[in-house]
Amino acid sequence: MNSTATQHPGSVTVIGLGPMGRAMAGALLDRGYGVTVWNRTASRADDLVARGAVLAPSPADAIAANEVAILSLTDYVAVRAVLEPAAQALRDKVLLNLTSATPEEARAGARWAAGYGAVQLTGGVNSSPSGIGQPDSATLYSGPREAFDRHRPVLEALTGRVEHQGEDPGLAALSYQLGMVIFWTSMLSFWQAVALARANGLKAADILPYATETADSLAQFFAFYAERIDAGVHEGDVDRLAMGVASAEHVLHTHTEAGVDSTLPAAVVDLFRRGMEAGHAGDSFSSLVELLAKPADPTDPGTDGRVREDGLSLR
Ligand SMILES: NC(=O)c1ccc[n+]([C@@H]2O[C@H](COP(=O)([O-])OP(=O)(O)OC[C@H]3O[C@@H](n4cnc5c(N)ncnc54)[C@H](OP(=O)(O)O)[C@@H]3O)[C@@H](O)[C@H]2O)c1
Repeated sequence: MNSTATQHPGSVTVIGLGPMGRAMAGALLDRGYGVTVWNRTASRADDLVARGAVLAPSPADAIAANEVAILSLTDYVAVRAVLEPAAQALRDKVLLNLTSATPEEARAGARWAAGYGAVQLTGGVNSSPSGIGQPDSATLYSGPREAFDRHRPVLEALTGRVEHQGEDPGLAALSYQLGMVIFWTSMLSFWQAVALARANGLKAADILPYATETADSLAQFFAFYAERIDAGVHEGDVDRLAMGVASAEHVLHTHTEAGVDSTLPAAVVDLFRRGMEAGHAGDSFSSLVELLAKPADPTDPGTDGRVREDGLSLR
């Protein structure tokens, strides 16, 4: 820690001042931390500097300033672009990497940092910028437990709830992506419903109560099907895929009737039909899990899970 540690609860570096990084630096300043910041576009630091943050002239200076550096960047391509020229400043530092990544990218990033004597704690923040600094917001971490325990007050300044999932730096990235697959597809389903409603003269606000009721009901569906899926049960006793495909087609045709983009409902129908072709017509639509657990086209190696030598995912 630097010499300001006696006056502040501590001092922390924040690299990356997008909406998340700015909220994090702000939350730390609110709690009396000394904050050093660096951002590619320096002007994004103006408000924070006005509140007492120190703008470092380079990533290396920012990292050298404090033991802990929060990384809040768009992706690991950005992380590498920022850290590589600063590699010599990394010895004995703790990188709190809150940048979205695949599990393999997070593991490779941790290995790369370890090569320069730094420790990476990977974090998946389950909050929007407005939740940063709030007691109910949560972040899942993985990586060295010792670093998590030692810097817990900093972590709790960012989100009130924190959990250490294990030593594997990829675990928190995996948990984050598991949340995001649900978040992105669910939000997209809402945009889709709004587009369909709009084509029928309705506003988002008009459908909000019904959309909310549907969204709220999902938790009980998750719980019901999770138990059966884990037990390998896809019995068609409460729903059948044959019913599901007919329903999904009604959704698709309502879109084509309204003249709106039907990419998403068509993809749903495609999955349901593939389930039928795989012989699951009489099973529950949960049987689609078995389909989704394999690549759509087994002859296409794709790029899933493959990582370049420098640890970045092939896209
Ligand atoms: N926003 C959310 O609601 C949310 C919620 C949970 C998690 N996250 C995750 O948190 C991370 C940060 O989120 P955000 O919304 O603040 O992201 P963002 O808007 O993408 O901004 C992140 C920062 O990355 C910097 N950056 C991007 N490419 C760079 C490069 N090649 N070299 C140097 N800097 C580069 C940007 O610098 P410039 O200012 O110069 O462009 C910016 O400061 C992301 O990984 C995101 O997935 C976001």
